[in-house]
Amino acid sequence: MPTPILHKESLIPGKTSKLVLHAPQIAQKARPGHFVMLRMSEQGERIPLTIADTDRENGTITIVYLVMGKSTAMLEALGVGDAILDVCGPLGHPTHIEKRGTVVCVGGGTGIAAMHHIAKGHARIGNKVVGVIGARSKDLLLFENELKSFVDELLVSTDDGSYGHKGLVTELLRDRLEKDKDVFEVVAVGPVPMMAAVAETTRPFGVKTTVSLNPIMVDGIGMCGACRVTVGGKTKFACVDGPEFDGHEVDFPELRRRLAAYREQETISIEEYRR
Ligand code: FAD
Ligand code: FES
Repeated sequence: MPTPILHKESLIPGKTSKLVLHAPQIAQKARPGHFVMLRMSEQGERIPLTIADTDRENGTITIVYLVMGKSTAMLEALGVGDAILDVCGPLGHPTHIEKRGTVVCVGGGTGIAAMHHIAKGHARIGNKVVGVIGARSKDLLLFENELKSFVDELLVSTDDGSYGHKGLVTELLRDRLEKDKDVFEVVAVGPVPMMAAVAETTRPFGVKTTVSLNPIMVDGIGMCGACRVTVGGKTKFACVDGPEFDGHEVDFPELRRRLAAYREQETISIEEYRR
């Protein structure tokens, strides 16, 4: 069913935008960690995007996307008053959230938006939430104010030192884990190398580490096998078994290889679309 766009905000001009969609049925059911599959045209592919927020009263969901290739460029071409051809969801398992104490939520790049929804779920249930966010530079940092409104502590890093700690989120994470031994879980959402580095950082501390995986998805409902990942030596389908998994068990090199498998076709596709 066409899903109207009620609000659009450019977070990083030309690169990242936030859309608020009128999707009352999805908003009623969606919980942190869920995602939706969107299709912009009859012949177009379906792409997965995480639900970054919901407003049940107003029947809306929020998505935040990085313009990567043809499908996200088609989404970026839409504005308030337009409708997305189909939005299917909520899909995947929601994040497991229970009241246990201190949780550290790490977000990188566009993943900060998805992490924000998970962090909000932990804050609502009464966990102490430490947010750790990072980007290449200050102008690429997302959702800082939104996170500040509910987290107990927010640690920020930029690669170039233009804001917060100069360096990587994993350096802040390591310092925080050394300082506070009460952390019961670390949750990470962001680029694959960042999630792999978070898992390696937490391993010596023995802290449960949950990562939200982003393999290529085609149907999003467990039928096609496109989103196959290896976790603890077993094959899992991220769309129905995940997308969140134990970061210490994920085969990250395989995920990286599979994400790059169609690079040539993706380049041709965006070049043809731009012409
Ligand atoms: P393309 O040029 O087709 O591809 C660019 C790169 O995006 C590829 O190299 C590949 O790494 C990835 N990609 C391509 N097609 C798919 C696909 N069908 N499924 C997954 N990845 C693909 N991105 C966001 O910006 N915000 C989000 O909230 C978000 N949430 C996601 C949640 C899940 C569960 C998953 C699996 C992915 C999520 N992504 C998110 C990634 C997003 O789906 C891809 O960036 C998008 O599909 C790229 O499509 P494209 O045609 O614009 O780019
Ligand atoms: Fe088809 Fe997961 S996307 S099985």
